[in-house]
Amino acid sequence: MNNPSPPSVPLLDLKAQYATIKDEIKAAIEPVIESQQFIMGPAVGELEAAIAQYVGARFAIGCASGSDAILLAMMALGIGRDHEVICPSYTFFATGGYITKVGAKPVYADIDPVTYNMDPDHVRTLARKCKRLKAIMPVHLFGQAADMEAYIQIGEEFGVPIVEDAAQAIGARDEQGIRVGTRSAISCFSFFPSKNLGAFGDGGILTTNDPDLADRLSILRVHGGRPKYYHKYIGVNSRLDSLQAAVLKVKLKHLDQWTRGRQSNAAYYDKKFKAAGAQTSQVPLSSGSGLPLRTPHPAGAQRPGMAMPGPSHIYNQYVIRVPADLRDPLRAHLTEHKIGTEIYYPVPLHLQECFAYLGYRKGDLPESEAAADQTIALPIYPELTRAQLDHVAGTITQFITQQAVAAR
Ligand SMILES: Cc1ncc(COP(=O)(O)O)c(C=O)c1O
Repeated sequence: MNNPSPPSVPLLDLKAQYATIKDEIKAAIEPVIESQQFIMGPAVGELEAAIAQYVGARFAIGCASGSDAILLAMMALGIGRDHEVICPSYTFFATGGYITKVGAKPVYADIDPVTYNMDPDHVRTLARKCKRLKAIMPVHLFGQAADMEAYIQIGEEFGVPIVEDAAQAIGARDEQGIRVGTRSAISCFSFFPSKNLGAFGDGGILTTNDPDLADRLSILRVHGGRPKYYHKYIGVNSRLDSLQAAVLKVKLKHLDQWTRGRQSNAAYYDKKFKAAGAQTSQVPLSSGSGLPLRTPHPAGAQRPGMAMPGPSHIYNQYVIRVPADLRDPLRAHLTEHKIGTEIYYPVPLHLQECFAYLGYRKGDLPESEAAADQTIALPIYPELTRAQLDHVAGTITQFITQQAVAAR
C-alpha cells in the first residue's frame, strides 16, 4: 500500500478557523446589516467594553488598525516634531514608521537574543543619550510579553510614558502574570486578520487607564471633533467599523481556547525539535551545541536573573532560529514540501532604505541584524492537525540534520 502523501501546511489557514464559528459569525453580523449602522454602532461600544475587561484596562478605544493605534497614541501624548521615541528595530514596520508620522524620530534599540524583545539595558543607554525623549515603546514581539517591570522603571527614571505595541500579543501576560496592555500609558493592539484575534479586514484598539487620555483618543479618532464639526484637535479618521466589531466580539469568546491550541502546538514542536538535538534560544546558535536549530524561549520559562516566573507567550508566531546560510535553503525546501513559512523580519528597521536619513549603519544593532538573518516563522495556528505538525517538524529536522552532517 502507498503511504498517504504528506499534508500541505499553509502558514495560516483562516478558513479552518472560520469553519468552526461560521454560524455564530453570521448571527452576529446579520443585525448590523439590518441596522445599516456601520460606523460607530452599538457593536463598537460593546467590543470596547469586552476588550477593556479582557485585557484588564479601564478604557478601550477602537480604531481602524494597529498602525493607526500607534499614530493616535503619539498624537494623544503630544509627541511631535523632533521628539524622540525609543523602540526596537527588529519589529514590524509600523512600530517605527508611525512614530515618524507625527514628525518624531524613532531611536532604535537592539534586542535580547533570547526573547527577541527589546533589550532594556540598551534602552537605558539610549535614553541617557537622548535630548528630547518623549516615550519608550516596547513591542511584545511574536506574542511574548516584553519585560514590563523593567520598562516601568525606565519610564519613571527618565520621566517618559511607556506606549506598548501589543499588536501581536493580546492576552499575553508579563512576568507578574498581568496581561499586556494595562501597565503603560497607552497600549496599541491590531486586529489584522493574521493576529490571534483577527477581524475580517483591518482594525485596531487602544487601551489605557487614564480617563483624560481615553477621552483624547476617542476625540482624535473622529477628526478631533466633539461635538461633531467642532474641532478641538486636528485628528484623523480612524474608526473601527461595526461589522468588524461584531465579528471580533464572537472571536473574543474563543480567544483563550485558540491561544491554548497555539501554546500546545508550540510545546509539541519544542518537544520534537528537542528530541532531534535542538536547544532553546537561551543557548546561542554560535555555541555549536546540538542541532543548529533554536526553538523560541518557551512560555513561562524563567529568564536568567529574574525573580518572577517568566512572561507568557501567546505564539502569534512560532519562530525558530537556524544559521544564516541555512535559513533561505530551509525555506525553499519547506516550500517544496508544501509548508508555508515567513521571514519576520528580513531587514531590521534601522537598515530600511526609508530610514537612511537617521544615519544607522550595518553592525549598529548586531542582535537585530542576526535575528533578521537567522529566524523563520512556522505554521502555529490552533487548527493544525498532528499530521501537519509532524510533517513540519520532521521535514525541518531532517533537512537541518543532513546539512549539519554535510558541513562536518
Ligand atoms: C508589531 C506590530 N506593530 C504594529 C502593527 C500594525 O498593525 P496593523 O497591521 O493592524 O496596522 C503590526 C501588525 O501587523 C505589528 O505586528
